[in-house]
Amino acid sequence: MSIIADDSDFKNQKSEGTREKNPVIRPEAIDLDKNFENCIRPKSFDTYIGQSALKDTLKITIQAAKKRELPLDHLLFYGPPGLGKTTLAGVIAQEMGVDIKITSAPALERPRDIIGILMSLQGGEILFIDEIHRLNKVAEEILYPAMEDFYLDMTTGKSQTVKTLRVPLPKFTLIGATTKAGELSGPLRDRFGIIHRLEFYTDSELAQVITRTAGILNIEIDEKGAYAIARRSRGTPRIANRLIKRVSDYALVKYSGKITESIANESLDILKIDEFGLDTTDRNLLNLIIEKYDGGPVGIETIAAALGEDVRTLEDVCEPFLLQAGLLQRTPRGRKVSPAGYRHLGYKTKEISSQQSLF
Ligand code: ADE
Repeated sequence: MSIIADDSDFKNQKSEGTREKNPVIRPEAIDLDKNFENCIRPKSFDTYIGQSALKDTLKITIQAAKKRELPLDHLLFYGPPGLGKTTLAGVIAQEMGVDIKITSAPALERPRDIIGILMSLQGGEILFIDEIHRLNKVAEEILYPAMEDFYLDMTTGKSQTVKTLRVPLPKFTLIGATTKAGELSGPLRDRFGIIHRLEFYTDSELAQVITRTAGILNIEIDEKGAYAIARRSRGTPRIANRLIKRVSDYALVKYSGKITESIANESLDILKIDEFGLDTTDRNLLNLIIEKYDGGPVGIETIAAALGEDVRTLEDVCEPFLLQAGLLQRTPRGRKVSPAGYRHLGYKTKEISSQQSLF
């Protein structure tokens, strides 16, 4: 992988005189969490755990592209954050034997950002754009001919002397990733040949991810310890990998360092991560709706203002799992806590009065 650029990377860049913001980022500007993620990231299908149906389809697609000696069709991955969309793009590049350039839509603010990256691509290379639903209209329109026919339309001159120059590009594959497929414009979505949803992981898959990461980080863990962390990882490998580090710190300071089931549970209780994997923010969200809004429905903006969180964090990070776990419901009039959500927080299930049921 050669380029990593997103808006958080920009925040890490020092301003150095006239140096311009550049979507191609120096490696040292990548934050430590990303370095950790990169070092434990699987590089091939053999080491990539989970998403087995998707992996099977991709293997066929890759073999066919190799036989035809053509680049892969453009691919779109969607699904909640932390399920391995970037990782999978890296695996695909490795399996295809090509380089990958990684960027994120918020980093492609000006036309020259996307043009620069497109013109730097070599034949067959993969361009990965994260959060592709946040691409601006101009960048999107530059991408259309690039994706469809591998050229860029560049204009030179002013008003009456304006000329359009057609610049050919090498054949490349765009892999887009989004947590919000519904926010992608129709024309952009239609230009992806392959569209796949990434699914939440099972406890057994997460336990395998945890055991693999523990091996790389030299952390001792037994099978029950791995499952104990897996059960509270909200179906998400990124969370599982984060929790193993915290639990390992606890095991090292309070015990001999080895993670067992009871040590994992004790440590996660102290971190206030409950047996469903909900953290304080998740519980505050459910509690707020129950206590202040009679269980809902209530609008997401109201919830965000009351919790002091931003809407995007609630929608992208908290909600997908609460919805999937059936603790929260999305209705046209806002969010509602489900009977399971009431029970999970120790409330009696809300009775639906005959008056309410009329509406
Ligand atoms: N780490 C993060 N995601 C992973 C996955 N799908 N397989 C193995 N290790 C991972």
